[in-house]
Amino acid sequence: MHIHENISLRPYNTFGIDAEARYFAGFADVDELEEALSFKPGTPHLILGGGSNILFTQDFDGLILKNEIKGIIELHEDSEYVYVKAGAGENWHRFVLNCIKRNWSGIENLSLIPGNVGASPMQNIGAYGVEMEDVFWDLEAYHIQEKKMFTFTKADCGFGYRESVFKRKYKDQFVILNVTFQLRKKPRFITSYGAIEQELERMGVKDLSIKAISDAVIRIRSSKLPDPAEIGNAGSFFKNPSVSAEQFKNLKAKFENIVGYPNADGSVKLATGWLIEQCGPENGTSWKGYRKGDVGCYTKQALVLVNYGNVSGKEIYELSEKILLSVKNRFGVLLEREVNVI
Ligand code: FAD
Ligand code: EPU
Repeated sequence: MHIHENISLRPYNTFGIDAEARYFAGFADVDELEEALSFKPGTPHLILGGGSNILFTQDFDGLILKNEIKGIIELHEDSEYVYVKAGAGENWHRFVLNCIKRNWSGIENLSLIPGNVGASPMQNIGAYGVEMEDVFWDLEAYHIQEKKMFTFTKADCGFGYRESVFKRKYKDQFVILNVTFQLRKKPRFITSYGAIEQELERMGVKDLSIKAISDAVIRIRSSKLPDPAEIGNAGSFFKNPSVSAEQFKNLKAKFENIVGYPNADGSVKLATGWLIEQCGPENGTSWKGYRKGDVGCYTKQALVLVNYGNVSGKEIYELSEKILLSVKNRFGVLLEREVNVI
């Protein structure tokens, strides 16, 4: 384990922000993690995965620890499920493809989400009708202060929409080391969400398979989300907020095309992309496709803020403030950022 000094974080975040870390180290196991944590007591720490859900608005005057714990192990199986443990430093999409190859079902709808396995429980990643909690079994995490390992079951994690205890109650306290998933041996196809069925039809799929679902999801995502290798971004910048049925009715009366999806509890989840698209820097303009210098709001998906070149994290954040304010003024709805702002 080597501690680097004054490192540019540009290659380590998908926004491509050129902030600097005072110290930076990778760790491939718990021993290396403990060694790194003992460096200069009192130094602040930040655990980093693939950097695909983080916005650096300033340099980090502490030690960034990049989780590089690898390994995919089939632990055991029962009549219905196989239990698969993956190191936190495994790339998420490669893990998904690996499971598909072995015909383990459950995470094919989560194809092409950037980042690493270790961050997947942080915000309970979700897409196309599946959330990570649907296949989560347990995880092992290291408590930085207590210097001890803990096991978290699903109930311990407090999963919600883009939420977990690691994002709130236990923020910055634990390092997730590995996650165990409960995957189906006999696939259960989830195709009802979004444009999956149309895409499968367009692809001419006759025999449905988890590989076909994964391919369809990849095609849909590639058509609307920017590839961070080409345009810096962190996916959805904000969450989709929920409002009461009553509030939705009132909004609908004023804005008849407003997009909302009913939640199980009767509330309605609004499509933030739609809300943002209806607002803009000036009256009669739209944020969607907005660009000033190299900072912008993506042309095909208004929920995604982008770095077209070499903008600072502050510029992205300032744009997000303006968007947040205009949505609040127009719809009376307060957006919440999904991206972790540093
Ligand atoms: P990072 O950005 O490195 O870290 C995110 C947070 O988790 C930070 O606070 C970090 O400190 C913490 N963290 C990371 N690893 C650990 C660990 N091992 N232990 C403790 N804390 C840790 N998300 C979705 O849910 N659904 C989507 O459909 C989706 N689509 C996306 C599309 C694009 C193009 C992009 C760029 C992002 C998208 N995202 C999506 C967001 C992002 O990919 C996920 O949130 C992903 O899980 C982040 O993983 P990461 O390893 O990059 O995390
Ligand atoms: N819409 C617009 N204009 C836009 C974008 C969207 O009007 O510019 C409306 C359309 O009506 C569209 C609807 O919003 O049908 C939903 O859009 P989309 O299917 O693209 O999904 P989303 O709600 O914008 C969410 C997640 C994504 C996830 C997709 C698919 C959040 C915050 N975002 O986006 O997750 O991939 O659904 O399940 O929940 C992420 O978290 O980073 C992320 C990309």
